[in-house]
Amino acid sequence: MCGIVGIVSNKSVSSSIINALKKLEYRGYDSAGISTLNNGFIDEKKCSGRVENLEKILFQNPSVGDLGIGHVRWATHGVPNQINAHPHSTDQVSVVHNGIIENSDKLKKEYEAKGYKFKSQTDTEVITIILTDFLKNENLVDSVYKTLNKLIGSFALGVIFKNYNDLVVGARRGSPLAVGYGHNENFIGSDSYALKTMTNKISYLDDGDFCLLSKEKVEFYNSDKKKINKEVFELSNEDNVVDKGDFKDFMSKEIDEQNLTTKKCLNEYLDKSRNEINIYNIPIDPNQIKKIRLIGCGTAYHSCLMAKYWIEEFTSIDVESDIASEFRYRNVKLNKDDLYIFVSQSGETADTYAALEKCKKNNVKTCGIVNVVESSIARLSDFVLPIHAGPEIGVASTKAFIGQMLVLLLLTLKISKDRKDIDPNVFKKLIDDIINLPDLIKETLSKQKEIQEIARDFINAKGTMYLGRGYSYPIAMEGALKLKELSYIHAEGYAAGEMKHGPLALIEDGMPIVVLAPKDRYFEKTISNMQEVIARGGKVLMITNDKSKTLSENIRFKFELPDFQSHISAFLLTIPIQFLAYHVALLKNCDIDKPRNLAKSVTVE
Ligand code: F6R
Repeated sequence: MCGIVGIVSNKSVSSSIINALKKLEYRGYDSAGISTLNNGFIDEKKCSGRVENLEKILFQNPSVGDLGIGHVRWATHGVPNQINAHPHSTDQVSVVHNGIIENSDKLKKEYEAKGYKFKSQTDTEVITIILTDFLKNENLVDSVYKTLNKLIGSFALGVIFKNYNDLVVGARRGSPLAVGYGHNENFIGSDSYALKTMTNKISYLDDGDFCLLSKEKVEFYNSDKKKINKEVFELSNEDNVVDKGDFKDFMSKEIDEQNLTTKKCLNEYLDKSRNEINIYNIPIDPNQIKKIRLIGCGTAYHSCLMAKYWIEEFTSIDVESDIASEFRYRNVKLNKDDLYIFVSQSGETADTYAALEKCKKNNVKTCGIVNVVESSIARLSDFVLPIHAGPEIGVASTKAFIGQMLVLLLLTLKISKDRKDIDPNVFKKLIDDIINLPDLIKETLSKQKEIQEIARDFINAKGTMYLGRGYSYPIAMEGALKLKELSYIHAEGYAAGEMKHGPLALIEDGMPIVVLAPKDRYFEKTISNMQEVIARGGKVLMITNDKSKTLSENIRFKFELPDFQSHISAFLLTIPIQFLAYHVALLKNCDIDKPRNLAKSVTVE
């Protein structure tokens, strides 16, 4: 889970590489490095920490050269230090890598036996050594081809060579790699977003492909070493500018813009004049669907869990949600009458992609719900529904979660309507509620201060719990995940009805507990569970649209949401739990946009 970039140009490339690396930092930020070809010599510079550390090194000692590669790392093999940082170079080649070489130990032994010495603990260095070895006797294309054939695992690679002063090589298997076309310069990058300020013309390598970039042209080869052509996509300019503006960090900006992203998404999918949902060409006739399986990781999985409740409520279709890392290895019976939905903000998550690949290999129908439309998951799915949230930079997913849930709800209602599972009046009423959603979100966003104040209760807590039933349960899970990842406080999301079966033992005097209690059919039961917690000393933050005063006595704080219909409660409950995680983390001085040990796009298993 790293970011790579490569540029060959007729002008100095180091500052463009650094700029692209800054855009790729969402993929990893524990070390950074660059190699350029300077007067026939490979000039490698690298360091632990962020790209800004690398920039400082280049400020003292600039990297010169018209071609080069760069890397931001999220460590898999070997601790994040200077030696393990990429690039990994010999005097002949320099390599940057995203992915994991599974047979690196075996290859290392093989090449050590030939007399090669390894400097780092990484799996990547074997690529450098193998390539160096082949180049002694083979031409360049054969050396690359033969090297790739020795590797087992996943990779996106960028390589430069001492003896080729107009050449960058890229290769892909499993991990994404985009190629960008410029005027007298060409680029490779882990995603198109990193290349967007340099070009809007992009091609994508498919698994097994490699490419040779020079200033004037790009040559593509497939896994059989046959020359191939690639389609060129033109990217829209709309999302070019990613700026946090007056906000302290990307996360607060991304939370704050959720009313707008919701509006944009609705503009894409709702035909308000006809009360219709513009989703067509679902790869199976909705009337034929026997089962829907929803698959994702982390926050995206929580949106799947949410959709399960909606699909059960509004359709007669059987439904299951799965964690992608489990689904991909389970002996799941894949069925041609089932629809498999893959949810991913980045569209690059390795486990979700592998689960999708498994479905594709079995010829079942797939749908990708993604934010990044140029992503691998979008390109592999039979059918793609973008969430139109715009770039999400904060590592903790916020607006993408709301966008995923919204698209899943719309898809559910569309399928339900096509199958005539839903009463037309109920459908119309729901659409009206959904149209109101951006305003309700805006109103909820305006109450941030209340959560900011209560956040103090959590900073010294040993742990906390988020409780909810029905539609609130997936949001309880999401609330706990957000708090964990941002503030490093242990948190669990529980179905409130489960408390008596064990977790109640954890409640002790003063422990802060979040109770999600919208006025829905579970309300009374959730209140009973809340009272059980209060009776054992729990300090409850209750999040509800119930306006009655009688409840308030024993509750530490009641956050009141605007009025809404219960089917859309998930969207409104999400806002305060995002604020809570954000403010607790802020009070604890945690890095909001880049929580420790994480990366935005998880492209390794
Ligand atoms: C949590 C978070 C992660 C991601 C997960 C899947 O805030 O962001 O749990 O949701 O890594 O990522 P995508 O959606 O890109 O597949």
